[in-house]
Amino acid sequence: MTEAKPTILKIGGSVITDKNGELAARTEVMNRLAEEIQKANIKNLIIVHGGGSFGHPTAQKYGIKEGLKEDAQKVGFTETHHVMTVLNGLVMDALVWHNIPALSVTPSCCVVTENGRIRFFEDTILKMLLKMGFVPVLYGDTTLDEKLGFTVLSGDQIGSHLARKFNAAKIVIGVDTDGLYDSDPKVAKNAKLYKHLTLEELKKIKGRLGKSTAADVTGGMLGKIAELIPAIEEGIPVAIVNATKPNRTYKALIGDMVEGTVIEKE
Ligand code: IPE
Repeated sequence: MTEAKPTILKIGGSVITDKNGELAARTEVMNRLAEEIQKANIKNLIIVHGGGSFGHPTAQKYGIKEGLKEDAQKVGFTETHHVMTVLNGLVMDALVWHNIPALSVTPSCCVVTENGRIRFFEDTILKMLLKMGFVPVLYGDTTLDEKLGFTVLSGDQIGSHLARKFNAAKIVIGVDTDGLYDSDPKVAKNAKLYKHLTLEELKKIKGRLGKSTAADVTGGMLGKIAELIPAIEEGIPVAIVNATKPNRTYKALIGDMVEGTVIEKE
């Protein structure tokens, strides 16, 4: 049993899938990340991954985020959840075959949202898993929603929620850019990388950050930042790193000189 504060690792869907394709998994990236996670060997780790080209296109096709409006969407709801379990299975494959005691925890079975915000989170099993030294793995998923009938819950909201609930030591966000830029680095060639930001600085630049270019029902980088702010306000530091590049996630996990963007309260 361990009393160490947990670390939350959110792996973006753009890292483990090709967001421009459909159902396009990057299993080689999943395997490399599993190797880095195993090498980091940190106590009390919670992994959350995104949907990328699995969850987003299906959710968009059926308008799942906007809620239940007609019966025909129901199969879209189940299909969106299903493709997320398929992606999660591939992530679990990589983790378990790298000897990580990882266990998949399905958000749609333990979370209820209200207008897209987490209202209820049954975490008994999650707490037991952590205490016993397992690595719970969650993901952006479909949820039943008290107002909308159903909706889409992002992995970022899950990560931020759990970080606050379990008083995390830090949140590591793996994305497909080198960190947080003053404009979209995939569009603007002279985009400038922020290496370190305080909460106040982050709030100031928030308005300038654009939405993700690829199909993204949960808001891209702007949505990510909005989710992270409440955790940073509680003093939980955040490191945003390029998880498509070797060793950056490893370094951020063990707290070595982070190559990316570090955001702290002060
Ligand atoms: C989205 O999760 C999940 C679904 C669309 C069902 P995220 O919002 O966390 O995914 P990424 O990281 O942006 O791809």
